[in-house]
Amino acid sequence: MIPLKIIEDLKESIIWAPSAGNLQSRKFYFVTNGEMRFDLAKAALDQQFIVEAPLVVVACADLEASSVKYSGRGKELYGIVDTALSVQNMMLTAYEAGLGTCWVGGFEEFKVKEILSIPENLRPIAIVPVGYPAENPDPPTRKEVHEMIEDVP
Ligand SMILES: Cc1cc2nc3c(=O)[nH]c(=O)nc-3n(C[C@H](O)[C@H](O)[C@H](O)COP(=O)(O)O)c2cc1C
Repeated sequence: MIPLKIIEDLKESIIWAPSAGNLQSRKFYFVTNGEMRFDLAKAALDQQFIVEAPLVVVACADLEASSVKYSGRGKELYGIVDTALSVQNMMLTAYEAGLGTCWVGGFEEFKVKEILSIPENLRPIAIVPVGYPAENPDPPTRKEVHEMIEDVP
């Protein structure tokens, strides 16, 4: 079980992420229901670790809201960016609280929408299982700084 206070901190971190025009074109489902977590894992190409997490967050972009002010760019990009920034905030807050998370992007969108009765205007962007890590794996590799960043003096 994740303490309620930590869940509240996760939610708070979500709402404070920046967003295009402060439209906050995003919506999050906090799923603790066991049957739904099972169904979400199935929709996510049977990635079973999703069921094991006591909390599964489904992050959605509100493409309608983001397109009202920013038309094509809003619809194709800003809503998704708004959502991703909130997810990153939440992941960092979770880490600080000793929790583990994983951004799961491999899933069938229509199935996830069906499971949670997600309205037409919302597009699921990420499924994020949240729980206490069972192990402490070695950190993954990264490209070198110079490979990813170009200084332009
Ligand atoms: C857009 C996106 C989609 C991802 N989809 C999955 C996924 O479906 N399953 C999974 O186990 N991890 C997924 N990941 C997690 C990455 O595999 C992970 O972030 C990467 O291997 C680096 O590891 P780290 O996050 O521990 O640094 C995804 C990450 C991103 C950003």
